[in-house]
Amino acid sequence: MTASNATKVRHWVGIETVSKEGLEQLFADAKRLEAEPLEQKRERLRGRVVMTMFFEPSTRTRLSFESAALRLGAGVSGFAEGETTSAKKGESLEDTVRMCAAYGDVLVLRHPVLGAASRAAKVSSVPVINAGDGTGEHPTQALVDLYTIQQRMGQIDGLHIGIVGDLCYGRTVHSLLLGLSKFRGIHVTCYSPSPKLALPEADLRHASLAGLTLHEGRNLRDIARSVDVLYMTRVQSERFPPEREGSTASSGLADYVLRAADLDDARRNMCILHPLPRVTELPVEIDALPAAAYFEQARNGVCVRQALLQSVLS
Ligand code: NCD
Repeated sequence: MTASNATKVRHWVGIETVSKEGLEQLFADAKRLEAEPLEQKRERLRGRVVMTMFFEPSTRTRLSFESAALRLGAGVSGFAEGETTSAKKGESLEDTVRMCAAYGDVLVLRHPVLGAASRAAKVSSVPVINAGDGTGEHPTQALVDLYTIQQRMGQIDGLHIGIVGDLCYGRTVHSLLLGLSKFRGIHVTCYSPSPKLALPEADLRHASLAGLTLHEGRNLRDIARSVDVLYMTRVQSERFPPEREGSTASSGLADYVLRAADLDDARRNMCILHPLPRVTELPVEIDALPAAAYFEQARNGVCVRQALLQSVLS
């Protein structure tokens, strides 16, 4: 996608520049890879090295990338916290990236700073995959989300998606909206439990979202009744600016919970997604419902990331 013309390195920094056809190709590859026998699969990236550079906590993203790499026969190196690297001694992100690019064939980078992945792509001689940059983007999560929607619903065009929770600081939401904007006839109903967590004005004015029909939801029950897909997210309190700390409970966020009763009038084949981790917004009572698709979504992380690794390394 955001290929630098000089080097033809295929970076994956944001989802905006990927075409609908590009997404569909990855989904088809993911589906094929999921079914491919292991002996065949582990020849695909034999001898390659995937570097996972995680400066922020992660369970699903890092481990599914590593599992994807190992199952394709690649080796994995890297770190799960920046504290163990020379960043602790004051090394710049750019220099750490240059070093990892000298040792690996692709860098999977998660960093707390918005724009970190695009800074990395500027200095890396190998593809950089953005695994989350602060409040910015999480394009591979959007790939997993869209793939899961396609698998569950049979198509993405024409669907009505409810996106709820922290639309301000949640980077998965930003990438998902950009990803959905590639498809036709999509309605999105947004709902955040506090006005402070609403989709930022700048995002709403984003030209790429012009193709989506956006609505504002009033409450979870109303939204659950009208959508095909309910995409829940947790409140990203660790990303609140300091002046907002402590105001969580008082601003009503504590009441942001999806109850089984909210789904009483939901469409028969409606599904619930969540990038996870969940906190209190998605109680375990929901897990047993046929609509709950979030663990399946997390499992899809492996085949989707296999398709992506293969694509940037081919
Ligand atoms: C998300 C993230 O890191 O942005 N997690 C993930 O990768 N599945 C969502 C979150 O942390 O809430």
